[in-house]
Amino acid sequence: MPETTASDTPVSTADHGAVRVITVNRPDKLNALNAATLDSLHVAFDAAADDPAVRVVVLTGAGPKAFVAGADIAEMNALTPVQGRDFSLRGTRMMRRVERMPKPVIAMVNGFALGGGLELAMCCHLRIASESAKVGQPEINLGLIPGFGGTQRLLRLAGRAATLELCLTGAPIDAARALQLGIVNRVVPAAELEAETMKLAEQLANAAPLALRGMIDCINIGGECGIEEGLEYESVQFGLVFSTQDMREGTAAFLERRKPEFKGE
Ligand code: COA
Repeated sequence: MPETTASDTPVSTADHGAVRVITVNRPDKLNALNAATLDSLHVAFDAAADDPAVRVVVLTGAGPKAFVAGADIAEMNALTPVQGRDFSLRGTRMMRRVERMPKPVIAMVNGFALGGGLELAMCCHLRIASESAKVGQPEINLGLIPGFGGTQRLLRLAGRAATLELCLTGAPIDAARALQLGIVNRVVPAAELEAETMKLAEQLANAAPLALRGMIDCINIGGECGIEEGLEYESVQFGLVFSTQDMREGTAAFLERRKPEFKGE
């Protein structure tokens, strides 16, 4: 398995077939997001988007304790208001890049996903959490507010009551409650997290890439516009998949009672 893990980069990547695993790699700081990590993630996601051999991305955190324990508090402590805004924009830009990836991104939430960590998980398309994971928006305890889209994405994912509760109290919740609130898609025992995540990733890696992309685009757009525009956009995307070989292959394979082989063409 080809792997890039430079000691001076806070993000490492490894390919497992068509699945690229991107790991935030600052375990001694519970993978806190400083500016360098935000930038490295942006570069890693750009590369995964551009590489036709990559069909699915899995995002996780290094070490046994944390997915990401938030934005880097030590780095934020000294920021001026202008620098604070730029730090927020930097994170928001990167997370928007993740959300708008043309291929599925799965967050493998292996521990604390707090503040910027939950914000990062929420911009992924799917989230699988270990039973031991804890998620929350604890910024209030620092006299802060979420700055990488937390108030907005949590609101859309879990609704007003849960968002107000998590943001105003700052109290983390366990994985079972996160599942109940729709913040994560699945919860599995810690020992099974990697295998279950890879199983899902491989399933998606075998699906028709251009249809996956069309759906991600429709769902992103639909979350941000009115129903008429969203339906219109879906119809256009629906028409577009008729231009793909994969659609001919998928429908032909069904009629011929065989397994389809999708090429992303
Ligand atoms: N920013 C910077 N450093 C962080 C961090 C963050 N968000 N979260 C953890 N760290 C660092 C700690 O400072 C510590 O570094 P040190 O060993 O050099 O002192 C190291 O990571 C381990 O963290 P520690 O607090 O000792 O682990 P713990 O198991 O006792 O507690 C948490 C774990 C997650 C409860 C605790 O680290 C925490 O509350 N982190 C901050 C969460 C947060 O507020 N996030 C939102 C930020 S906007």
